[in-house]
Amino acid sequence: HQRVFSGVQPTGNLHLGNYLGAIKRFVELQNHYECIYCVVDLHAITVWQEPKDLSRATREVTAAFIAAGIDPRAHIVFNQSQVAEHAELAWVFNCVARMGWLNRMTQFKEKAGKHKENASVGLFAYPNLMAADVLAYKATHVPVGEDQKQHLELARDIAQKFNMDYAERIAELGHGEQFFPLTEPLIAGPAKRVMSLRDGQKKMSKSDPSDYSRINLMDDADTISLKIRKAKTDPEPLPGEVAGLEGRPEAANLVGIYAGLADTDEQAVLAEFAGPFSRFKQALADLSVEKLSPITAEMRRLTAEPDQIDAILADGAERARAIARPILDDVKDVVGFVRST
Ligand code: TYM
Repeated sequence: HQRVFSGVQPTGNLHLGNYLGAIKRFVELQNHYECIYCVVDLHAITVWQEPKDLSRATREVTAAFIAAGIDPRAHIVFNQSQVAEHAELAWVFNCVARMGWLNRMTQFKEKAGKHKENASVGLFAYPNLMAADVLAYKATHVPVGEDQKQHLELARDIAQKFNMDYAERIAELGHGEQFFPLTEPLIAGPAKRVMSLRDGQKKMSKSDPSDYSRINLMDDADTISLKIRKAKTDPEPLPGEVAGLEGRPEAANLVGIYAGLADTDEQAVLAEFAGPFSRFKQALADLSVEKLSPITAEMRRLTAEPDQIDAILADGAERARAIARPILDDVKDVVGFVRST
């Protein structure tokens, strides 16, 4: 059985990287898989969130999912904290994963910065919760941007260790050899790693202090055009071949963004726009506005009705729980926890 799971943190400014690397791909996968899309509020509080901002951002990510084209009736959309199974399974995984594995996570090193002693324990254990998100549903495929690759490799290691540690019991209980699937990451396309508009070496991120580094899903048309006009480039014109983008991270990034928005590849973009940057930037600004404006408008409409969003999340949570509950019951039996039946 094939099942897609993915999550987005409600931590402010959703941006073009989140859209092209993740949300747009969530939409496409709906035609091929049963999909579960989660607003991961438990992950968000691994760093401080103002309570009111957290609620607002949770509804905003939900609105973005729906505005982008995710169908919350045919699939499942919910926020993580409403399904206790995530936290429950994460605890078991805290006891499966090794300190050494987590010590290797580059995102923790980046986010914790110099003062690791001051980072929350949750920030360190973050990847275990992420593994629990995916495996509470035995999801087989996880669409994400490239920055999540290492976390998903850890999820596979956790699944494998659980399957091995409890192999005898798993077989005894009739689950065969593999209790948890080894989840496959889906990381693909020209925009799997969208970079900052100000620095082609840094990824586009919610936390970059410069708003000019990113295009936010809530930006209006003028802001989008201005940010693209001001985006850093180099003095050379656009090449005719992908090989010519070598060593030109800013140019490569803008071409990748265009390809992602237009559902094409870099070569096709260069075939059309080889030559001066000005013409390409104008076309990129127009395309960005054309693709993003309807989503922004729909997000605004949806967030004006928070009760309706909350109803969608409640319904999604109930359906998510119906899948995760029996899997958690099996986990408890495998581990040896006594439970009433
Ligand atoms: P988050 O909230 O940081 O980002 C959400 C999604 O957007 C992708 N993304 C990008 N893609 C391309 N270019 C970029 N510059 C860029 N920035 C972000 C991310 O890769 C992600 O797919 N840990 C996850 C959330 C999560 C999750 C999960 C994902 C929690 N549990 C289970 C998958 C499965 C995160 O922080 O994503």
